[in-house]
Amino acid sequence: MKGILLAGGSGTRLHPMTLASSKQLLPVYDKPMIYYPLSTLMLAGIRDIMIVSTPADLPQFERLLGDGSALGVRFTYRVQPAPDGIAQAFLIAGDWLAGAPCALALGDNLVFADHLGLSLRAAAGRAEGATVFAYQVRDPERYGVVTFDETGRALEVVEKPANPQSNWAVIGLYFYDHRVSDFARRIEPSSRGELEITDLNRFYLEEGSLQVERLGRGCAWLDAGMPDSLMQAGTFVQTIQSRQGMLVGSPEEVAFRMGFIDAQALRGHARRLSKTELGRLLLELADGVHS
Ligand code: DAU
Repeated sequence: MKGILLAGGSGTRLHPMTLASSKQLLPVYDKPMIYYPLSTLMLAGIRDIMIVSTPADLPQFERLLGDGSALGVRFTYRVQPAPDGIAQAFLIAGDWLAGAPCALALGDNLVFADHLGLSLRAAAGRAEGATVFAYQVRDPERYGVVTFDETGRALEVVEKPANPQSNWAVIGLYFYDHRVSDFARRIEPSSRGELEITDLNRFYLEEGSLQVERLGRGCAWLDAGMPDSLMQAGTFVQTIQSRQGMLVGSPEEVAFRMGFIDAQALRGHARRLSKTELGRLLLELADGVHS
């Protein structure tokens, strides 16, 4: 399975912070925002990842992440000329995907949950259909909203409904089978002129193959797209890391735990970050202080 990390858009809800910088490069406590969804894709076992961003911002992501070899993965970079919709990612990546199944992560979404790796790898391992993750929120009208039966089969999915039929929001992490680019080519722009990810999900829903994984109590899902949620995300990461001494959203840690890099390579990352707490925690991990 391949992965796409979508990190474009204009970040208008974070102006003036995003006037001269990409939203997905803003700090969430001690790391650039994009590290969090990148870690999520890697935790799903995905090693071939395309980063999609604006013409102005893409070079900054390349500078930050390089070719991926230091993390035991491979990064490909591609421009989205204008923010014409999340599902456009599959048209941009169509030739690169060449019929492979693909996961998509939004560059401003942070998920943290016990046993997340297991459910991500299960979603990545499904041969047919699509999987989305749902999280209960107080303001479902701001998101894609899903209803589903007791087996987790999606019954309805609506983008930002005025009258939500449930409070289960669809988070910015999607797993699709090999047909995803074909379905994406059939989507028409919505009334706001975008190729909507919810319309892509509807193709799978209509054939009964859209599976919903619930993220329950004890999970955190934050989208860091507004000043308050950006602050909340940072505080959340700071709280977990300082209280438990565990890292949240570290691609270096995930690369090591997934066996993409060895302890020596992890020590190299730790040395480069030696003036930081992050570097100290990575060194402890390489030395086996944390299980
Ligand atoms: O965060 C989850 C929600 O993300 C889902 O519940 C919704 O179904 C989905 O449509 C999306 O809603 P948003 O209103 O948050 O989408 P937004 O336009 O803010 O885009 C999400 C991210 O994707 C944002 O970081 C910018 C990036 N993006 C967006 C578009 C439309 C791109 O890189 N290119 C694009 O063309």
